[in-house]
Amino acid sequence: MGTGYVGLVSGTCFAEVGHTVICVDSDAKKVELLQAGGIPIYEPGLEELVHKNVAAKRLSFTASRKEGIENSDIIFIAVSTPPRPDGSVDLSFVEAVAREIAGAMTSYKIIVDKSTVPVRTGQKVSETIERYCKAKVEFDVVSNPEFLREGFAVADLMKPDRIVIGTRSQRPVQAMRDLYAPFNAPIIFTDINSAELIKHAANSFLALKISYINAISQICEATGANVEEVANGIGMDDRIGRRFLNASLGFGGSCFPKDLSAFIKISEQLGIDFRLLKEVQAINAAQMERFVAKITDTLWILKDKRICVLGLAFKQNTDDVRMSPALTLCQRLVQGGASLRVYDPKAMEKAKAVLPPSDQVAYVADMDSAPEGCDAVVIATEWPEFKKLDLERMRKSLTHPIMFDGRNLFDPAEMERLGFIYKSIGR
Ligand code: UGA
Repeated sequence: MGTGYVGLVSGTCFAEVGHTVICVDSDAKKVELLQAGGIPIYEPGLEELVHKNVAAKRLSFTASRKEGIENSDIIFIAVSTPPRPDGSVDLSFVEAVAREIAGAMTSYKIIVDKSTVPVRTGQKVSETIERYCKAKVEFDVVSNPEFLREGFAVADLMKPDRIVIGTRSQRPVQAMRDLYAPFNAPIIFTDINSAELIKHAANSFLALKISYINAISQICEATGANVEEVANGIGMDDRIGRRFLNASLGFGGSCFPKDLSAFIKISEQLGIDFRLLKEVQAINAAQMERFVAKITDTLWILKDKRICVLGLAFKQNTDDVRMSPALTLCQRLVQGGASLRVYDPKAMEKAKAVLPPSDQVAYVADMDSAPEGCDAVVIATEWPEFKKLDLERMRKSLTHPIMFDGRNLFDPAEMERLGFIYKSIGR
């Protein structure tokens, strides 16, 4: 139930390992698109896998929840859980699906929550199904959080580090084991509350790692040290690990910012002030401020400056721009009076829908032409293709060879040798 990043990619991967999967979405237009072979999101490797499994008749799409529910043994809830203005989670989609399942169930079902939800949601889902189930059939609610990263979703799903399954009874355990057996990954079984907590605790910890290295990057800038060398040095300690220690202009996306706020709110409701996570948020916000200040300190006045921004997505390999630091930056530069020439390999269309229409933003179709006539260039997303930019051409086509690298993609010494004024993060 739900064909967003989690629903569509997990459904497809379950089909790929041999299960029969019906993906249900209440958005009839999206279902029509999927039935016609279209893919609503850009995710490397997904399109091929969808087509292959549809052709093999293991994967189908429908807008009929009833059809999906009646014909399934295991039902995954993978609907969105958007943030409310106060940071708490809007669970109305989860609740609505739980009622639909209850209404359409005529035999034993395993109902698995894959959406990211606050601890104790499983309990609420159980109570809701119990209350609305007309047929009074038995069921089990299971929590099975998803750990995929956008841009690497298929790979993360096919080769997971671990699978977390929270259950209240033994009855669904074997079916869940069988479902995941083809993935050859370690499975841990927990109670439902722990499984739900694992998801929020994992995402908050990863966000904390990024804010930690971003805080270190500030110390590096004040002392002339190099944050990458520090990250490599601490990351080689197995207990720390190098991943998620890339200093940046801040993290974004539809998960970390939302999950941090939700986890802080959940803690607050439990009477716990999770100040550590508030600091993670504060460091992230400060990182953007520092980056904007770096640009204004160098260019002085933004008004009438033309700036090239490379990267609009919230990270590489995706067209997703939700809570994208790149777009926040674009908005800040435009507010300051600059006009922009922007480029992203996949996210231009989605960015157009989010950035207010403005004659101050020109969308350029080719990355090497984007910097033409600009006063400076900014790298805002860590797309690997930006490493292949023609830097010689860029230097000549900029009115001033200034680069602000919010993702540390280039080597400072090399950029200096090429004649750039080059400012990155913590180096
Ligand atoms: C994140 C988690 O990594 C997944 O495990 C989780 O399943 C997912 O949220 C979710 O809850 O659905 P995602 O938001 O897709 O995945 O992307 P990440 O790769 O985690 O990147 C998040 C943000 O952090 C991006 O803006 C990225 O550029 C930034 N980042 C990441 C850094 O600034 N530095 C790093 O070292 C790593």
